[in-house]
Amino acid sequence: MEPGAVAGVNRRLLLFVATGLVMALFVAVVQIPSYSEDSQRAAGAMTVFNRTSAALEKPASGLTEDEIARHDVGDPLFERSHVPLATHPGAGLGPLFNANSCVACHVRNGRGSAVPGMSLVRVALQEAGGSKPVPNWGWQIQDQAIFGHEPEATVALRWEEEPQVAGEPSLRRVHVDLIGPDGQFVEEPEMNRSLRTPPPLIGLGLLEAIPEQRILDGADADDQDGDGISGRPVWLDRGDGRRELGRFGWKAGTATVQEQTVEAYLNDMGLTTPAGPHTSQTMAGQPADIPWEEVKAVTFYNQSLGAPATRWSVQDPVVAKGQSLFRNLECATCHTPSHGTSTDPSLVVAAIRDQTIWPYTDLLVHDMGPGLDDGVAEQGLTSSAEWRTAPLWGLGLAQRVNGKAGYLHDGRARTVDEAIRWHGGEAGRSKERYLALAPNDRQSLLTWLQGL
Ligand code: HEC
Ligand code: HEC
Repeated sequence: MEPGAVAGVNRRLLLFVATGLVMALFVAVVQIPSYSEDSQRAAGAMTVFNRTSAALEKPASGLTEDEIARHDVGDPLFERSHVPLATHPGAGLGPLFNANSCVACHVRNGRGSAVPGMSLVRVALQEAGGSKPVPNWGWQIQDQAIFGHEPEATVALRWEEEPQVAGEPSLRRVHVDLIGPDGQFVEEPEMNRSLRTPPPLIGLGLLEAIPEQRILDGADADDQDGDGISGRPVWLDRGDGRRELGRFGWKAGTATVQEQTVEAYLNDMGLTTPAGPHTSQTMAGQPADIPWEEVKAVTFYNQSLGAPATRWSVQDPVVAKGQSLFRNLECATCHTPSHGTSTDPSLVVAAIRDQTIWPYTDLLVHDMGPGLDDGVAEQGLTSSAEWRTAPLWGLGLAQRVNGKAGYLHDGRARTVDEAIRWHGGEAGRSKERYLALAPNDRQSLLTWLQGL
């Protein structure tokens, strides 16, 4: 070989090595630091390594023998079909209700379908500056009744395709029709209706254990940093100046898994519990349909569910790509990738304590713009356009667990892509950036999301 050729080979080799070094440095410095922990273990010690249609029904990993035994006590109670009590008129299921078991709506612990009987309809009358409850009906329609009673109304859903945007698959919107006991459509133009599908029951005990201060640190109610994204905590007034931070439900309207359970018994099944309408308030001496032990057992069952491991290990190139797009598009500003849980030794499940978890939510509510504003601001806690940032863990299993599941609070989005294209308001800029992505980048982001 000529000496010049050797120099040429060396130069090319040097260039090759240098490029490699620069790329490695880029990956190390720019990509990895904020995601260096093992994001595959979405629920820390409670991560369930199962991505089949049964994934969400498995008890969390890391439970002690005692905790597994308690979980197994709650499981059949969560699935139990309630009936009216013939011996005590007015006791047991109903008289008005939406479904007769928890699992009827929370299919295999996953999200429910957007169909009557598996979802709820919240209603409100529009008034200046907000909503008020509908006389006789309150905030929720009870569309089932036991024998001898009339449901408040029957629900029928009409799906309507939105005008198509060039180059994008069309979006659809739902209209809720209510048919009164007289068989006539309820024509009440002032009454807004909001369909709510059951969210998946994933990692609830862990979400409950994110320190309050951590959530408040993420809030920026007046958008002081000027990024167009504010994020507001929902405070639930408990009287005597006490307040609790809302975390659960599509609007963060309940503070704890126990409160959500008590409300589900009362509002969705017409079953009373020894608890008052709010969390810790117990009503001593009151006859109740559901004994306190059962409330505790079903609550514990929910708290001891984990979250599925992601499909990707951190070494997968798709993870670096997906996560950097997720951050660059500002999705991560609301869908906060990870949190640390409380170190409180008295937590209900030992494995909940001191974990790094990857739920992809800030547990704050955001104004999502007119597209997602359905005119119902129940309880006056949130505006009708405000929604809690939906946790994204388990997203890729949604339709494996329930083939008829949709996305967003009313299940209107048939695909994850549709869910993103409904984002507006504070998420408007993020959505625009998504729309502007090159097709293969968009696909990378969607592929990564399907692995959650
Ligand atoms: C009629 C259907 C239905 C029944 C029955 C039902 N749920 Fe739900 N559940 C829902 C809907 C809809 C939501 C969301 C409500 C909202 O945000 O407006 C929800 C929310 C929840 C949440 C909050 C999840 C989260 O991510 O924030 C929990 C926990 C829950 N339900 C547990 C239960 C338990 C336990 C039972 C039985 C005691 C039950 N549900 C019965 C429909 C139902
Ligand atoms: C301003 C805060 C915000 C930003 C930014 C944001 N989201 Fe969301 N996201 C939400 C809220 C709030 C919901 C729930 C809306 C609803 O149910 O109506 C949601 C829902 C979703 C859902 C549906 C989840 C479910 O359980 O059905 C997906 C998927 C999603 N977001 C992905 C993204 C992606 C990808 C981006 C970036 C392109 C993004 N989001 C940016 C706040 C945000």
